[in-house]
Formats: sequence, C-alpha cells, structure tokens
Amino acid sequence: MNAKGLSVWVGDITTLDVDAIVNAANNSLLGGGGVDGAIHRAAGPALLEYCRTLGGCDTGDAKMSPGFDLPARWIIHTVGPVWHGGLSGEPELLHACYARSCQLGVDAGARSIAFPAISCGVYGYPPAAAARIAVDECLRALRNFGTLETVRLVAFDETMGNVLKKALAESC
Ligand code: AR6
Repeated sequence: MNAKGLSVWVGDITTLDVDAIVNAANNSLLGGGGVDGAIHRAAGPALLEYCRTLGGCDTGDAKMSPGFDLPARWIIHTVGPVWHGGLSGEPELLHACYARSCQLGVDAGARSIAFPAISCGVYGYPPAAAARIAVDECLRALRNFGTLETVRLVAFDETMGNVLKKALAESC
C-alpha cells in the first residue's frame, strides 16, 4: 500500500535499513519496554550512554541519536501522549510527535523514515484514531519536505497493520 511515498509495513522496525527509525520512548529517554526496549537491545549499550546526555524529552517533542548497531543511521526518539480519554491534549501531542520527528529527520538529511505506532502500546491510544493522525502528519511531511522520499508506518502485528492500511486507504 503506497500513497505519495507513504507505506505500511508489518514487522520489526529494528531490522529496517532506512535513514532514520523513530522510537516510541518515555520522558527519561533511558529505555523501557515495547519498541523502546527492542530498539535499545538492537542498537547496543552505546545507545543508553548517548541517551543519558540528551536530558530527557518532553511529550510531543523528539530528540535524535545515532543508530549505533542498527541498520538505520539515526534514531529519532519521540514521546507520545498517554491516553487519558482524549480531552487532555492527546491528539495535538500525537500530531506533534510525528511532525517534530519528520522535521528533525529532514534537518539531519534523512530521506527515509520509519515510524512505529506511537502511543498504541502501553500508552493506550486508540489505534484507529492514532493511525489517522500518523497518516495525516506523514503525508503532510512528504508534501512539505522535498528531500523526504519515503515514510514507512510500521506495525508489529497484522491487526495494527490493517488499522494503518485502512487509514492510509481512506486518506487517498
Ligand atoms: N517493531 C515495531 N513495532 C513494535 C515493536 C517492534 N520491534 N515492538 C513493539 N511494537 P509501545 P507506547 C509496537 O508500548 O504505547 C515503553 O516502555 C507495539 O505493538 O512500545 O508509545 C516506553 O519506554 C505498539 O503497536 O509504545 C514508554 O514508557 C507500538 O509499537 C512506553 O513504552 C507502540 O507500543 C511508550 O508506550
């Protein structure tokens, strides 16, 4: 499935040979479970050492690190909102995660970026609503940044993959 450089892929984001992968981190940037844990394991211990120098990250913001042992050259660490029902600024913060991550990647020279489903795991964001935001912001970034060629939305399982594919199909 592909629209203007945006595609959905099901699998482990740590295996992707793209310029930058995005991490769904927490405010400490010092690792955790889910995709964050997988990225730290695959990138190696140098990632944690580097992240200690970043001073954490606000929700909705993003910070970059090298990819260390990953195929990806960079990791963009962003912190998604915890879902509290949707009236606590969650949509705006999730939009900001995607927008800020694309901006940082493009500023560094990334032509290809891969995102996990930010906030859709332990942070509890409803997948369909999160998928619409992901598709929206990534299409906007592909329109606005001439140097950005491909954005991949990565699902870890078929269920999330289908949610993302539906959101992408509805945007076309
Ligand atoms: N590749 C791609 N997607 C993955 C992978 C992987 N290897 N592993 C999990 N996912 P989550 P959040 C999917 O919980 O909700 C951490 O502890 C997963 O199936 O990783 O933003 C952080 O430190 C789900 O669809 O992130 C924070 O404390 C999606 O990635 C907190 O979790 C996001 O799930 C962040 O929670």
